[in-house]
Formats: sequence, C-alpha cells, structure tokens
Amino acid sequence: MLVKIWVSLFLAFAVYSWLVYMHTEDRNNVPPPDRHIQAGWQLWQDKNCQSCHQLYGLGGYMGPDLTNVYSDKGAKYMQTFIKYGTGKMPDFHLNDSETQSLISFLAWIDKSGKSKIPASVVHWWGISSK
Ligand code: HEC
Repeated sequence: MLVKIWVSLFLAFAVYSWLVYMHTEDRNNVPPPDRHIQAGWQLWQDKNCQSCHQLYGLGGYMGPDLTNVYSDKGAKYMQTFIKYGTGKMPDFHLNDSETQSLISFLAWIDKSGKSKIPASVVHWWGISSK
C-alpha cells in the first residue's frame, strides 16, 4: 500500500516536472553581450545607475524600473534622459558613444524577459506567454 502511494507520488512529480519544463519559454536565446553591450554594462556599474533604478525589481527606488524601458519607450526617449538627465536624475556628462552603449546594454536586458507580469497571464498552473 505504502509503496503504491510512493510510486504514485513519484509519477505525479515526474509528469508535473515534464509539463513544467516542456511549457517553459526558452529565455536562453539571448545572445551573449558583445563589446558594445559590455561597455554599457560597465558604465551601468561605474555610474551606479542601479542605486536609483531597478532591473527586474531589484535596485534603488528613486527612478523607474528599466528592465523593459527599451521596448516600452524606445531608444530616442532613453537617449534624452541618459544624455542630459532631468531635474531628478543627474546629468552624467556622457558622450554619444557612452550613451549608445548604455542603450545597447538596456536593449539587451530587455530581450531577457518582462519585469512586469500582467495579472491576465498568471494562472494556477503558472504563467502563460500571452
Ligand atoms: C540619483 C538617482 C538616479 C541615478 C543615479 C540615475 N537615474 Fe535615471 N532616472 C532617475 C529618476 C528620478 C528618473 C525619472 C526622471 C523624471 O521623471 O524626471 C530617471 C529616469 C531615467 C530614464 C527614463 C525612464 C522612464 O521610464 O521614463 C532612463 C532611461 C534612465 N533614467 C537611465 C539611467 C541610466 C542609464 C543611469 C546611469 C548612467 C541612470 N539613469 C542613473 C534617477 C536616477
């Protein structure tokens, strides 16, 4: 009797695991960062952007989450903030190439997934892609 319960539990676990792995979206298709993206990543750290901004909700809370700013607002919009700052965000006096590198870095982050999960895609069995 006990053996049957254990076997059933193991089978349920195996089937559930298989279902989860088969229906998980492949996030590993993001290409490795090229030198331009790496330069932006380095600037992200040097200028401590994360002290005010979050990626996937982690970071400071003075500025907005920037995980998907590239697809939500676009490169031109980002360029204005990064190059000139605002009353609340400092002007880092970055040149065009540095600004571009930071945009490339954030565009690369954007490809890795969505930071805000809309309630409509959350189900009792997990998250569906649409
Ligand atoms: C001292 C805190 C602070 C730091 C450091 C900072 N930011 Fe910001 N950032 C802000 C604030 C606050 C806003 C919102 C500005 C506003 O609405 O006036 C903002 C806005 C932005 C936006 C526009 C986001 C949107 O959704 O509207 C981008 C892009 C951005 N920052 C990029 C960066 C990058 C890249 C760095 C690092 C080089 C950086 N920020 C460093 C505070 C900061």
